[in-house]
Amino acid sequence: MKSPYIFATANQKGGVGKTTTTITLGSSLSVFGCRVLLIDLDPQASLTNHLAVEPEKLEYSVANLIMSDSINPADVLINKYRLKNGGCLDLIPSNINLARIEAELSNSKGGGLRLKEKLKFFYDNYDYILIDSSPALSVLLISAVAACDEIIVPVMSDFLSIRGVELLLSTIDKIEKALDYKCSYRLLITMFDKRTNSSLKSLEYFKNKYKNTHFHSIINIDTRFKDASMLRKPLTYIDVHARGAMDYISVAREIIDGFNSFIESGEEGKI
Ligand SMILES: Nc1ncnc2c1ncn2[C@@H]1O[C@H](COP(=O)(O)OP(=O)(O)OP(=O)(O)O)[C@@H](O)[C@H]1O
Ligand SMILES: [Mg+2]
Repeated sequence: MKSPYIFATANQKGGVGKTTTTITLGSSLSVFGCRVLLIDLDPQASLTNHLAVEPEKLEYSVANLIMSDSINPADVLINKYRLKNGGCLDLIPSNINLARIEAELSNSKGGGLRLKEKLKFFYDNYDYILIDSSPALSVLLISAVAACDEIIVPVMSDFLSIRGVELLLSTIDKIEKALDYKCSYRLLITMFDKRTNSSLKSLEYFKNKYKNTHFHSIINIDTRFKDASMLRKPLTYIDVHARGAMDYISVAREIIDGFNSFIESGEEGKI
């Protein structure tokens, strides 16, 4: 079975760009003709809202997908955007029910592996799956880590973020040991402001400390992201030439080029 490559965003610090990364990177990959599925794994449902889906009106959400064995997984899927180039952007939405199932999920044996199992239903139809995590260190983060091939750690370019990243990486390490499973991670510098010393210095720090585990592309600060969330559309689809959209296009290119060189080198790639 040709399986998609699965990313999950993670950072217990709130407001660092997890949801913005999920939606803008996902839409950027679709611009290259990739078929992309976004999973909202945050009870706050910011991703769902950002894609103009009303969380409180949902018949089914990601909570049903994870907990119920009787529903058809296809019933949870929302086909959002179809592009002429064959790319697409779909959504498995979330709402507050996700918070309600958390206790049940953490008490059930192998609960953290349920999402991974359920996602297999969608494998044939997508090139990439992107999971948006909540800022909490909970069973939902365990589910995201278990389901993904690679974690994207969006990190704000300031010094307060340094300790937070170390804590997150040690938490991920503990999760991996408990699951006996290893996935890779890459840092993605977000909200970079070249006018500030703090941005410049922390960028230098992160690049030195996490030499081979960061994206080379960085995400600059761009007020257009707030406009995009107000318009409830990915910035990439509103204005592909906006600074922030171009930055995520560059991350998407880095991902796609990485896979192409992997396949050209004769190694067996996952996609
Ligand atoms: N590069 C950027 N430049 C300017 N604003 C940004 C950028 N990235 C994200 N934002 C804005 O910052 C706010 C927080 O971003 P986002 O919701 O993506 O963070 P988050 O990590 O998902 O937050 P939470 O932890 O609450 O889920 C949003 O208003 C978003 O529009
Ligand atoms: Mg978020």
